[in-house]
Amino acid sequence: MEIQVGIISVSDRATKGVYDDAGGPALKGAASNYGWSVIAESVVPDEILDIQRALRELVNKGCHLILTTGGTGVAVRDVTPEAVREMSIRELPGFGEVMRFESMKITPNAILSRNMAAVIDSTLVICLPGKPKGAVECLSFVEGAIPHCIKVLQEVPTSC
Ligand code: MTE
Repeated sequence: MEIQVGIISVSDRATKGVYDDAGGPALKGAASNYGWSVIAESVVPDEILDIQRALRELVNKGCHLILTTGGTGVAVRDVTPEAVREMSIRELPGFGEVMRFESMKITPNAILSRNMAAVIDSTLVICLPGKPKGAVECLSFVEGAIPHCIKVLQEVPTSC
């Protein structure tokens, strides 16, 4: 099954044009290298409602996987995990655990990361750091589990 991906860059400054979004393009390149098809991208401010509107739009567009980048830190404006959790049917803690564990080998600031993964309807959502290098690194740490996770989420439940 071809994995269809949506990318959401969460950044006040990129939204205002203070600087160009770099995390989204970096993740688009990584997704393409994994053989996935990026079907939608968006840039939104660090606002819960804007993040949730973008998530809903990409879920409805048929994304099997949504990658967010940014807003997973400790700053007051970092609200991506809260936005996702409010919409999700369940969280998948293993993704965040592995991303932090592996990232600790790269930067002690990994402790500050609230990156995580959850399921919205049948879509896997993975929240990654805002730095392009960090986002691509964290995705690489969990990439191996993504195809099976999506396969299971897409299976139509059989009547027992
Ligand atoms: N993990 C990796 N692999 N590489 C990184 O550069 N940045 C850390 C952490 N995890 C980082 C990382 C930092 S500095 C922060 S503040 C948190 O991710 C959250 O990043 P965000 O606020 O850009 O989402």
